[in-house]
Amino acid sequence: MGAADRARARLVDGLHDSGRLGSAAVEEAFRTVPRHLFLPGVPLARAYADEAVAVQAVDGVTTSSASQPSMMAIMLAQLDLRPGHRVLEVGAGTGYNAALMARIVGPQGHVIAVDIDEELVDGAARHLAASGVHDVELVCGDGALGHPAGAPYDRIILTVGSGEVRPEWIAQLAPRGRLLLPLALRGTQLSVALDLGADGALRSASVHRCAFVRLRGVGATSETGVPVGGGVSVLPAGGVVRPELVRAALAAPGPARHLPEPLSAADLWDGLGMWLALTEPGACRFLAGPVDPDDPDPDGLPAELMPVRGRGAGIGLAADASAGPGLAVVVLDPVADLGTRGPWPVRVRAFGPAGDALTERLLAAAVAWVNAGRPIPEDLRLTVVPRGVEVPPAGARAVVEQEHCRVLVHLSPD
Ligand SMILES: C[S@@+](CC[C@H](N)C(=O)[O-])C[C@H]1O[C@@H](n2cnc3c(N)ncnc32)[C@H](O)[C@@H]1O
Repeated sequence: MGAADRARARLVDGLHDSGRLGSAAVEEAFRTVPRHLFLPGVPLARAYADEAVAVQAVDGVTTSSASQPSMMAIMLAQLDLRPGHRVLEVGAGTGYNAALMARIVGPQGHVIAVDIDEELVDGAARHLAASGVHDVELVCGDGALGHPAGAPYDRIILTVGSGEVRPEWIAQLAPRGRLLLPLALRGTQLSVALDLGADGALRSASVHRCAFVRLRGVGATSETGVPVGGGVSVLPAGGVVRPELVRAALAAPGPARHLPEPLSAADLWDGLGMWLALTEPGACRFLAGPVDPDDPDPDGLPAELMPVRGRGAGIGLAADASAGPGLAVVVLDPVADLGTRGPWPVRVRAFGPAGDALTERLLAAAVAWVNAGRPIPEDLRLTVVPRGVEVPPAGARAVVEQEHCRVLVHLSPD
């Protein structure tokens, strides 16, 4: 056994022990396909670490990466591939995921992988050839449109984030086919496996949190924050924020009220943050830049944000423009001991004249989140209803209107 085989065995043993390999077929594919041949020039230790490896960036922003193996394993389990399936992948990247899928669907199946970037498609072709994988069809094109020439597909997987379930993908699915995509739902990206029903609606079989680069081309949507001073950006869950109103609110900090539940970083971002985004029209997230070594003790909001992956992060509510400047933001309680991993005590701070009313709303939403069992993305059940299809929203905790679909959000079990 060579060094690459040993490194791969260690990686896959780790995936196995963490319970992420959903089936023997997925495990066999990970054990067989040589990831390092899809990442030429990358040291073996990195190629076989459970980490994403960026392979292309434009203006400092990653536009393509070999995804984190544990996330790929989660998605392949969600996809539930069977021998003989016809599969479309949007986001061929290095070609590694396509090679894994080709291994699982076998010689009776077929994998078509599309990437929008010609250089990446050429690279993927070289990697597949070097690995001895000859049964993946590569296409250079905009996968937002799917690839009608190869339809219908039993499975369509996006390995790139989308803000929408596009009608092209639904149209190219076989009856009872499954569409798996990283879907941004009011600012939270969710890996959602959606089964096409006879009524034309798609219902989720599973939901996981995820973080993928976003679609380029016709399906591109921007997710950049609006800078509001002090190195802080605000990302509204939907709609628009007026930066001048946010700045005016931040310049007028008000009182802070205790939030009865302590929160970890994951509770803040993926738990209460997701809940607020789904249930409150003015929900937004705040991100500060990386900690500045020349200013380790900043004043104002950045000093009170919770550390999430090396950056200050917050969630809150912004006032409607008609109400004037106002914000309510979940901030760390000064007694929080950041030497621990949390959960930490938190408070809700009001900013601006409209801040107090928003604080009340935010505290009430936090109580509702706790009463609902502190849901996280994995607890959601989504029904994606294309325009022209009728599904009553009975019992839905939230209804999210998107350009082509309405998304009904239930809790599982509810
Ligand atoms: C996270 S990478 C995919 C990783 C890949 N599955 C692998 O195994 O290496 C996302 C990819 O989506 C591609 N992409 C972005 N927008 C696209 C579009 N509209 N159509 C097709 N591919 C797109 C990017 O060029 C990038 O290669």
